[in-house]
Amino acid sequence: MQAVNDTGLVKLSSYIDGSWSDGEQKFDVTNPANGKVIAQVHNAGVDETELAVIAAKRALPTWSKKSANERSAILRTWFNLMMAAQDDLGRILTLEQGKPLAEAKGEIAYGAAFIEWFAEEGKRVYGDTIPAPSGDKRIVVIKQPVGVVASITPWNFPNAMIARKAAAALAAGCTFVVRPSPSTPLSALAMAELAERAGVPAGVFNVVVGEDSVGMGKVLTQHPDVAKFTFTGSTAVGKILMTQTATTVKKVSMELGGNAPFIVFDDADLDAAVQGALISKYRNAGQTCVCTNRILVQKGVAKAFTDKFVTAVEALKMGDGLEAGVNVGPMISSEAVAGVQALVDKTVEQGGVVIKGGKQSSDAGSFYEPTIVANVTNDMALASNEIFGPVTPIITFDTEAEAIEIANDTEYGLAAYFYSRDIGRVWRVGEGLEYGMVGVNEGIISNAAAPFGGVKQSGNGREGSKYGLDDYLEIKYLCMGGIDR
Ligand code: SIN
Repeated sequence: MQAVNDTGLVKLSSYIDGSWSDGEQKFDVTNPANGKVIAQVHNAGVDETELAVIAAKRALPTWSKKSANERSAILRTWFNLMMAAQDDLGRILTLEQGKPLAEAKGEIAYGAAFIEWFAEEGKRVYGDTIPAPSGDKRIVVIKQPVGVVASITPWNFPNAMIARKAAAALAAGCTFVVRPSPSTPLSALAMAELAERAGVPAGVFNVVVGEDSVGMGKVLTQHPDVAKFTFTGSTAVGKILMTQTATTVKKVSMELGGNAPFIVFDDADLDAAVQGALISKYRNAGQTCVCTNRILVQKGVAKAFTDKFVTAVEALKMGDGLEAGVNVGPMISSEAVAGVQALVDKTVEQGGVVIKGGKQSSDAGSFYEPTIVANVTNDMALASNEIFGPVTPIITFDTEAEAIEIANDTEYGLAAYFYSRDIGRVWRVGEGLEYGMVGVNEGIISNAAAPFGGVKQSGNGREGSKYGLDDYLEIKYLCMGGIDR
C-alpha cells in the first residue's frame, strides 16, 4: 500500500483466535478522495463471527484470571507499538477514511491514549465493604469482568472507537470481538497486528471484517456467549441493535447520534468562538457525532460573528487528506454527499439562505464544499437532523432562556457547546443544557480522561475516564455470615 513503511501492518483478512482467517469472497476498500480501490479484503460473515465469539469465550478464563498488572503491561506495550507506528497507521486511516493526515495521526494518538489510560485504570478496580445490618454478617462488594464483549464500530473513527471500547474491556479482564465498518477495515486489522505483537493472547482481541451487517450484527447482539454489547453509530441502527440484545438481556452501552448546538452569547470572545466553531464543525468533514450541528448566535453579535466565521471557512483547504495543507477531506461516500445535499436543498426550500458553499465539489471523490446556511430556524431540515457533513446552519436568538429552549428542542443529547464570559451564565447554561457533554468556551471536548457519552436518544453508558471501566464490570456482593458463632 502507498506510503506505508511497515507493510506487515496491512492485513487483508479477519483476525480470529490469534490467526488471520481467509475466506472465498473479497470486498473492495476504496479511497473516498478519488474512488480508487486500495485493497481487497476477505469477506467474513456469520460463521466467522460465531467462531470469534467462541474463541473469545475460550480465552476468557485465562485472561480474566491474569493480575491487573499483567494485563496492564500488555496494554502498555500495545500503546507503545501504536504510537511507534503512528505515521503508518495515520496513512492507512487517511487512505481508507479520507480525513487529513494530521487529523488521522491525531486520531491514532487519541485511540492509543485510551489504551494507555485503561492500562493504568485497570489497576484501580476497587471493591467495597458495607456495614451489615446484623453483627454476625459482613458485606463485601467485589467487581468482576462482565465476560465476552461484542462491538460494532463506525467508519468515522476507525481506530479510536475500537481502542476506546477494547482498552476498557481488556483492562477489566473481558475478551473482545469487534466488527468494524467494512468501509474502514484496514485500521482495525492493523490494530490487531499490533495487539498480537504486544502479546495479547489468542482469542482475547478478535476482529471480524465483512459486509453482512445484518447477519453479523445478529450474532454479536444475540449470541448467548456474549455478555455485553457496545455500539457506536447512528441512533436508528442503535435502536435495532438494542432491541436484538433484549432477547438475551445483555449489558449494553450505546454511543449514538447527536445534534450539537453551538451557542454564541453576546458577551462571548467572538474570535475564540469562531475558532471553536470551525474545529468543532469541520474536523473530519463534519462527520463526528459531537460535531456542531447548529450554531445559535445572539442577535446583537449575529452579523459580527457570521462575517468572521465566513472568513474563517473561506480559508479552509479541501482536498485529498495526504496533500500538505489540506484541512477538510472528502466525505465517506457519494451516498453521504447526496444525503447532505438533500438536507441543504430542503432547508433552502424552507427559507434558509446559502451564504457559502452549498454544493458538491466538482473534484473526483466524494467532496462537499464547506457550507454555511443562514436564516435557519430550529424546525428546518438542517437543524432537526444530524447533518454528518461540512454544513453549518445558523440560527439567531434573543435571550438566554430562548437559546436553552432551542438547544434542548431535539431528541438527541450528546454534546453541546457555548461561548460566554459571564460566570453566572456559564453555570446557568451549563446546568440547563440536556446533554452528556458540554464544551464551555471550548470546541474540542474528547479525551481519554473525560467521560464520553450522551443522554436522551444519544445513548447510554460512558467511555473513557474513571467511569469507563464500569460498563465492563459486574458488581458482586458477598454476604459473609456466621461471624459471631
Ligand atoms: C464519534 O463521532 O463517535 C466520536 C467522536 C469523538 O470521540 O470525538
